[in-house]
Amino acid sequence: MKFFIDTAELRDIKDLAATGMVDGVTTNPSLIAKSGRNFLDVIAEICEVVAGPVSAEVTATDFETMLVEGRKLAKIADNVAVKVPLTWPGLKACKALSDDGIMVNVTLCFSPAQALLAAKAGATFISPFVGRLDDIATDGMELISEIRQIYDNYDALKTEILVASVRHPRHVIDAAKMGADVATLPPSVLRALASHPLTDRGLEAFLADWAKTGQSVL
Ligand code: E4P
Repeated sequence: MKFFIDTAELRDIKDLAATGMVDGVTTNPSLIAKSGRNFLDVIAEICEVVAGPVSAEVTATDFETMLVEGRKLAKIADNVAVKVPLTWPGLKACKALSDDGIMVNVTLCFSPAQALLAAKAGATFISPFVGRLDDIATDGMELISEIRQIYDNYDALKTEILVASVRHPRHVIDAAKMGADVATLPPSVLRALASHPLTDRGLEAFLADWAKTGQSVL
């Protein structure tokens, strides 16, 4: 399973990329606004740090402007994945950009029907938002299960399931059990994956016992 990180903060991206766990990055207009950085500059810098797909989202809502924006974003680096919203203009832009050989991430997916359309439009990635579904008392992970089942029924559907709006490690584990291709994680969730209280307690005890020996490895 691939891990992308869901942030536009270069410091987090560099820190986590050094662990070898980062296969790509996703951004959205809210994350760019939060970073306070120039959109095109920050995407270019992220693409230099991470070799895998870096999602950069169009902000137009009509097909023609989405296409112009998408082509401009794709020129920043070979590993840019253009993000388009799951609307009819977005699906049309997905088809046109995919036909150009550009990676496309179709975002704001909340139903299996939407995921089917994105795959038929040639999306490289579909981004179902599990956390936002949980927020409205709907089981976000059930959507992942349904999309996995649909995509597995048809060899022609090559779109990767990119689980988005991930809020905690349980989302990641459930997504992995369901066979999702990618999860995009806020830095805090990626860091939390390594945490366990018994690991902390065990290490503390080992170090205390080691100190009693008076030895040093070096
Ligand atoms: C990633 O592509 C999405 O934009 C992101 O995961 C949304 O997460 P949120 O629901 O926590 O804003």
